[in-house]
Amino acid sequence: MRNKYDDDVFFNKYSQMERSLKGLTGAGEWAALKDMLPDFQGKRVLDLGCGFGWHCVYAAEHGAAKVVGVDISRKMLDEAARKSGGLNIDYIKKPLEEVDYPADSFDVVLSSLALHYVASFGAIVEMVHHCLSDGGQFIFSMEHPIFTASGPQDWHYDGAGDKLHWPVDRYFEEGPREAVFLGEKVLKYHRTLTTIIRDLRKAGFEIDDLVEPQPNERMLKLPEMTDELRRPMMLLIAARKQA
Ligand SMILES: C[S@@+](CC[C@H](N)C(=O)[O-])C[C@H]1O[C@@H](n2cnc3c(N)ncnc32)[C@H](O)[C@@H]1O
Repeated sequence: MRNKYDDDVFFNKYSQMERSLKGLTGAGEWAALKDMLPDFQGKRVLDLGCGFGWHCVYAAEHGAAKVVGVDISRKMLDEAARKSGGLNIDYIKKPLEEVDYPADSFDVVLSSLALHYVASFGAIVEMVHHCLSDGGQFIFSMEHPIFTASGPQDWHYDGAGDKLHWPVDRYFEEGPREAVFLGEKVLKYHRTLTTIIRDLRKAGFEIDDLVEPQPNERMLKLPEMTDELRRPMMLLIAARKQA
């Protein structure tokens, strides 16, 4: 399986992002996501596409009884292990498509900005539902369908190079997109908001919350954030397995 995060050039660029250098406080959506998280005390937590493991560390430091982070990238997981110090976190190298835990293995499943890399959202949602306890929570962020629809993930510019608007095209055509992220070609998947919500409900989740996060005042002072109020980039969802 193609894995961009183990590509040296891409990995080095990703490692220089604000969110990679500073962790959760460097992530524009963190304030909104943090508000959606439960009390981790005594909980069994799974993080799908854990990357550098920031969310695993957060759960472990906030009392989680067990934390497992899964990611496809050796480079990301090696860095996660380095950043996790003496915390009791299991990092597992595996594609999300192959994750398979018995029923009632976890109380909380997290996933931060990884699900737009998987072809079948519905299959992942069913897997998560299966491995959660009754009433367990699935809290995740993914790129917003408005952000993924067109493909290249860039603004339209005028002749002077100024941003005109964000293109939304091919919205109802779900499937792979060749996006450009950090100047590199990356394979992502677009799906509609209807599919996201319906797949969750079909699997047996109820939706507790849905947020299209906006950068806070501090983040808006960063030059790369000035246009982030013109269109949503991410979608945050908190869902609960119906008891
Ligand atoms: C944008 S990073 C997010 C990392 C981390 N969750 C965070 O928010 O800091 C996306 C992560 O998803 C992982 N990933 C992408 N496709 C995957 C797949 N099919 N299976 C497992 N992990 C995958 C990448 O290796 C990368 O670490």
